[in-house]
Amino acid sequence: MSRHINSIFKVCLFLLISLLVGCSKEPPEAVESSLVETLGLRDYASAKGKFIGNLMRDGMFENEQVNGGSTDKILRTEYNAIVLGNKMKMSNLLRNRPQDPFNIKITDINTGNIDKFVAYADKYQMRKRGHVMIWYKQIPSWLEAEAPNWTAQQVYDFSKSYITTLSSYSAGKIDEWDVINEAIINNDFRRNTWYDIVSSQANDEGEVGFQSYFSHLFKWARQSDTAAELFYNDYNIEPFGTSKNNFMRNLVKELKSTHAAPIDGVGLQGHFKIDQVTEQFVAKLGQTIDDLGVAGFTVNITELDIRICAGDNGNIQTQKDAYKRIVSTAFNRENCNTVLIWGSSDNDSWINTHYEGCGQATPHDENYRYKPAYFGIKEALMEL
Ligand code: G3I
Repeated sequence: MSRHINSIFKVCLFLLISLLVGCSKEPPEAVESSLVETLGLRDYASAKGKFIGNLMRDGMFENEQVNGGSTDKILRTEYNAIVLGNKMKMSNLLRNRPQDPFNIKITDINTGNIDKFVAYADKYQMRKRGHVMIWYKQIPSWLEAEAPNWTAQQVYDFSKSYITTLSSYSAGKIDEWDVINEAIINNDFRRNTWYDIVSSQANDEGEVGFQSYFSHLFKWARQSDTAAELFYNDYNIEPFGTSKNNFMRNLVKELKSTHAAPIDGVGLQGHFKIDQVTEQFVAKLGQTIDDLGVAGFTVNITELDIRICAGDNGNIQTQKDAYKRIVSTAFNRENCNTVLIWGSSDNDSWINTHYEGCGQATPHDENYRYKPAYFGIKEALMEL
């Protein structure tokens, strides 16, 4: 009986949201003048079967003290998908050296970070993105010191052990994982990595090369968690036809067809500079999503931000168009279901500390107020 009432309630809620979404198609000027939005971006997105997300920075697990609760409020009212900015990277999950790095136990992993993340996301019904299993950056210092002395087989053993233990633990909790992040530079594989040895030395099975190694990463992840969607994630791969884009598309297609890697999707990070986001640029981003769609891949935008730097022609008004165009182009394609933004406000953005003279990259300003970009996203969602 209570399940029945619950279903009726959900249907009514959906109808109410659909009605409000339909009714609130006022001109942009009127929308932008509103001080408090009745619905969050998540309501518009979920009414269209899409996920709009953001990241949670360090130490913000439902922490009402951080920024007076503003960040927490933005996350749970605006977004129905979430990722951790740093806390699920290897430097945090495997901070202390396991007794045996080739036989990692669950007690070696800082599962508390995963638990807190999952509890927060579940409480607010958010899709959970895992970032990241294997990356050349943000690795524990003990790995940085030891890995250069490892054989290829040891790199395989360590990676298998880490992924298997992590995936087994996160199974049923995390919806999608970045299995490998940023493995390409320009038109070649990235070489400055702790796992580079696999490209020149064979493992015990005689396998050599990055493709073999990467395909195993996906296979181990799938074996331990059959439900999570598995992604290759990178930056500067968005517009179709650049050398890095060509290399990426060939790589993921080869991993899937030649190596039978269970790779479900590609994450286009989407760290953009305002003047870069022209109409043509966004059209080429759409072409990438289409091309990978033909090959059976989901393509999500996983770390979207659009920075404005000193000397740029663009401003927060053109940033609105840029956000709108990207969200619209991505979500008008069936094989794109998620757009995650990398920073809940301009106050919580990595841009401030990593790019001198740049900032204002997110949809909320430094005082957590809506920016034109916010309304660009909202309009794109309403027009889907
Ligand atoms: O944890 C230390 C802290 O102990 C120390 O006091 C402080 C002093 O600078 O640094 C802290 O580490 C910082 C870390 O974030 C955690 O907050 C690092 O300096 C800082 O460089 C690091 O930046 C992160 C960056 O990845 C590192 O590569 C950003 O927050 C994070 O948003 C960014 O995220 C990446 C994605 O994972 C992959 N794609 C690109 C994206 C942007 O770079």
